Amino acid sequence: MTSTMLFSPFTLRGVTFPSRIVISPMQMYKAGPDGKLNDWLFQHLAKYAVGGAGTVMTEALIVDPIGRNTYGDMGIWSDEHVSGLRRIADFLHDNGSVAAAQLHHAGPKSSRQRPWEGLGPLGEAEAAKGEPPWQPVASTASSTISGWHTPRAMTAAEIAKLVEDYGAGARRAAEAGFDVLDIHAAHGYLIHTFLSPVANKRTDAYGGSLENRMRFALEIAESVRANWPGDKPLFFRLSCVDWRPDLDTRNDGWTIGDSCVLAQELAARGVDLIDCSSGGIRAENSIMDFAKRRVKLKRGHQVPYAETIRRDTGIPTMAVGVILDGPQAEAILQASQADLIAIGREALMDPHWGLHAAQALGIDPKWERWPPSYGWWLELRDRIGVEG
Ligand SMILES: Cc1cc2nc3c(=O)[nH]c(=O)nc-3n(C[C@H](O)[C@H](O)[C@H](O)COP(=O)(O)O)c2cc1C
Repeated sequence: MTSTMLFSPFTLRGVTFPSRIVISPMQMYKAGPDGKLNDWLFQHLAKYAVGGAGTVMTEALIVDPIGRNTYGDMGIWSDEHVSGLRRIADFLHDNGSVAAAQLHHAGPKSSRQRPWEGLGPLGEAEAAKGEPPWQPVASTASSTISGWHTPRAMTAAEIAKLVEDYGAGARRAAEAGFDVLDIHAAHGYLIHTFLSPVANKRTDAYGGSLENRMRFALEIAESVRANWPGDKPLFFRLSCVDWRPDLDTRNDGWTIGDSCVLAQELAARGVDLIDCSSGGIRAENSIMDFAKRRVKLKRGHQVPYAETIRRDTGIPTMAVGVILDGPQAEAILQASQADLIAIGREALMDPHWGLHAAQALGIDPKWERWPPSYGWWLELRDRIGVEG
C-alpha cells in the first residue's frame, strides 16, 4: 500500500491532524491529591508522541475536585494546573503530535478506590491512610450501579456553577496550549447521569423529556465553546447507547437515535466531532461486569455507533474500542465508518502503535517514521539481517 487513509491528514477548524490516530484518554490514577502533573504522568503521554500517534489525548482532567474518581486523578480545576499541562502540550508539539485534553467530572463514580485497590467506594481503611470518602453528586440521589456511594442530586445553583467550571477548564486548557478538547459525557459519569433516563429521575428543567435531559450537556458545550478558541476543535465523548440487546433485554435507556439528536444539538453549539463510546450507566453494560459474566469483547464493537452518527447526521466521528492494529483501523476508515480512530489499551501494550501500524500497512519499510535515534539502528539491523 503506498497511501493510506490512516496516515492521511484531516482538518477540523484550524487544526490539521497529521494522521487519523488518536491516543484515547486513559486515567492512570497516578497524580497526588493536588491533581498536578508528575514525571510518571508526563512520560506516559510523551511516549505516544514519540511512538507515532498523530494526536495524543490526556487522561480525563477533573474540572471540580468533588468530581474526582480517586485521589490520584489529574486536575484542571485550578490555574495551578496550567504549567504542568503546558509541559505536556509543548512536548507533544515538539514531537509532531496534536495535543488534546479531556474535561471530566465522575459524578456518582467519584470517591472510589483506584482500580488495582479494588475500585470500590472509599471507606474507613482509606480514611485511615489519609484518603477519606466524600459524597458524590449526580443528576439524581440514587445510584444505578450498586456498591458505590449513593450520590446526592445536584441543585440548580450547583449545576450553574459547574457549567462555569467546565468553561474555566476550557480556558485553562487553551492557556496550556492544547489544540483539541474533548468533553467526557460517557461511561455512567456525571453528564451521562443527566442524559440517560435510566439514571435521571429529576422533575425540574433538567429531567423528564429528552430536551430536558440534554439541557445540562448542551449548557456545558456552550460554556466550553465560549471559553475555547474558535479555531480549535471541540469533541464530545458519548455513550452512544446504554444497552446492548445481546447483554441486557431492558431496552429502556439512551439510544443511538437519542445520540443522533444530541449530536445535532451539540454541532449547533460548536461541537465538531462525536467521540463514540458506549455503556457504563448500569452494571450490565460496564466492562467490569463483562469480566464477571465472561462476555467477550468483539473487535471494533463500538464502530457501528460511530458509523451511524456519521452517516445519519453528517457530523465527523471518532471510533474507539478494541481496534487492535493498523489494517483494522484502515478498514474502518476505508468503509467511511469514522474519521478518527482512538487507540486505548493496545497503546498501553505498544506505545509505538502508530509506528507499527505504518509498518503493517507497508508505508514505512525503512523505519523513516521512527525518531532517527531509534530508526537508524533498526534499519541497519534489518540490512544486516538476524540469523536463527
Ligand atoms: C486505563 C484506562 C483508563 C481509561 N480512562 C479513560 C478516561 O480518562 N476517559 C475516557 O473517556 N475513557 C477512558 N478509558 C476508556 C478508553 O479511552 C477507551 O475508550 C477504552 O479503553 C476502549 O478502547 P480500547 O479497546 O482501545 O482500550 C480508559 C480506559 C483504560 C484502559
